[in-house]
Amino acid sequence: MIDLHCHILPGVDDGSLDMTDSLGMGRQAAHDGIERVCATPHIRHDHDVRIEEVGGRVEALNDRLRAQGIPVTVLQGGEVAETAVEDLGEEELGRVALGSGRWILLEPASGPLSDTLLRRVAHLAERGHRTLIAHPERHLSADMHERIAGLIAAGALVQATADFFLRERTAAGMQVLAEAGLIHVLSSDAHSSHGGRPLHMSEAFERLAGIDSVAPHVEWMRETAPRAIVDGGELELPFGPAV
Ligand SMILES: [Fe+2]
Repeated sequence: MIDLHCHILPGVDDGSLDMTDSLGMGRQAAHDGIERVCATPHIRHDHDVRIEEVGGRVEALNDRLRAQGIPVTVLQGGEVAETAVEDLGEEELGRVALGSGRWILLEPASGPLSDTLLRRVAHLAERGHRTLIAHPERHLSADMHERIAGLIAAGALVQATADFFLRERTAAGMQVLAEAGLIHVLSSDAHSSHGGRPLHMSEAFERLAGIDSVAPHVEWMRETAPRAIVDGGELELPFGPAV
C-alpha cells in the first residue's frame, strides 16, 4: 500500500517530533503492509516549512529507514492549504506534488467546503496539476455531498482519513460517503508514533471491502489509484458519485 498523506518528516510541522518518532512511524507503516509513504508537511501560512528543504529531509529520513532495515520508502509531497496554493511558484508546486508527480494534495480551508476550493481545483488544472482533496469529511455542511460531487466533476479525487472508518463516532458517516462514491483513496494523515491516528490503513480497507457497493472497487482504491497518483499518471474512475 501507499500512504498519500502523512506528517512523517521530523520537526518540520505539527507532525513527527524527531527522527526517533519518524522511524517509529516507519515501523508502524511496515507492520501494516505500507511500502511507500508520501511526506506531506503542511504548506500553510502558520507553518514555516521550507519547500526547498523537503527533498533533502526526505532523503535523510530514507537513509535512516534503510540503516534501520525498515522496508518503507518516503516520497516527496506536501499538504497544500487552499489559501496558500496560488502563491506557490511552478518549481515549488512541483516539489510538493505527491511523489514529485503532478497531483497536489489540497487541504480545504477550515469550515464548510466552499466555492473557493472549486476555484483552486480549476487553478491547479490550468497549471497542469491534478488535485487530491484532503479529508473533506472534516468539513461538514448540509450540502457536503453535493460539494464533493462538484469537486469530482471538476477533476479532483478525494482522500479520506482511514482511521475514521474505525471510530464509533465517525464510522457510519464514512460508510455513507463511501457508498455515495465520494471517496477514492484512504490515507493515514498520521502525525506521530506516540499517539493520535496511527500509520495504519489495512483495517479501514477491510471495512470498505465489507460494503457491498464499494467492495468491487477496493483493489482500485488501495492499489491502482495511489500508484497512479505518485507516478503522476492519469486515472479512469471506475465509479461516479451517486448524489
Ligand atoms: Fe494532514
